[in-house]
Amino acid sequence: MYKERLNEYIERLDEEEARDLFMLIELIRQGKRVWEEDPGLAYHQYSKHSRFRIFMSPRRSERGPLPPLIKNYRNARNIKLPDPDLSLVSNPIGDSIIKRRSFRDFKPRVMPINVLSTLLHLSVGITGWDNHWPLRAYPSAGALQPVETYIIANYVDTINMGLYHYNVLDHSLEILKEGDFRKNIVDIALDQDFLYNASIILILSIVYARTLWKYGDRAYRYALLDTGASMENIYLAATAMNLGACAIGAYYDDDLNSLLELDTNTEITQVMVAVGYKE
Ligand SMILES: Cc1cc2nc3c(=O)[nH]c(=O)nc-3n(C[C@H](O)[C@H](O)[C@H](O)COP(=O)(O)O)c2cc1C
Repeated sequence: MYKERLNEYIERLDEEEARDLFMLIELIRQGKRVWEEDPGLAYHQYSKHSRFRIFMSPRRSERGPLPPLIKNYRNARNIKLPDPDLSLVSNPIGDSIIKRRSFRDFKPRVMPINVLSTLLHLSVGITGWDNHWPLRAYPSAGALQPVETYIIANYVDTINMGLYHYNVLDHSLEILKEGDFRKNIVDIALDQDFLYNASIILILSIVYARTLWKYGDRAYRYALLDTGASMENIYLAATAMNLGACAIGAYYDDDLNSLLELDTNTEITQVMVAVGYKE
């Protein structure tokens, strides 16, 4: 009876739906009941290229306009950052990779603004152009650059304590909220007290629509990979300047997204990285 009904369905499927069903049946035949596994694995199975289904990018005609690659807060007050200063980078790349460790015992010291400038440039900054298309310090699927960077400044020279957005095109900080967020961040990060003494906390979000525009259901994988590459850049740039860094994945997502006032239909935070002084 089920086979008969399945045949009826199959008759009505278009080519793409038939391919999806074929892939599902193939998984079942392999003993992989993806809907019973954990959601991460199910997404992985669903979004993988396989011999039965290549994840076609949405057709150009179906894509709509390319979402802006760069976010800015037009109405925010803006602080121009000094030029990045590569003379602050004292450790070669090999040493930085080997010395990189997650550091938590921060001393509450003021970070010079040129250190923040250099750190942002080396981790998520625009480091080149392909005609009019910006290219970043991190590699990015389709060069679509979904990562946005926010800064909680606890102790930074010449700027007030507060929450800022990095305007990558201008290499400037947009002031979102001034104030002392040290307790809020500790609370949001499941009481990880050491964040209180970090000079800055960088918050990486993804504007998912940028990657989605080209990669459809595979986009979330790529956006996470882009975020991971940016995160590692922060670690390495911090280590190269003898600063400590620690990634923070444990936090209340909704609380952090609301602190940043993100529209979570289009943008979501992925990770924070605390950076500060070892002594
Ligand atoms: C995605 C991610 C999330 C993490 N979240 C936290 C965190 O919330 N708190 C923390 O203290 N360390 C966190 N870490 C740091 C790891 O604990 C650390 O990388 C790991 O113990 C290995 O140590 P190492 O970085 O010194 O090599 C995180 C690391 C990654 C990559």
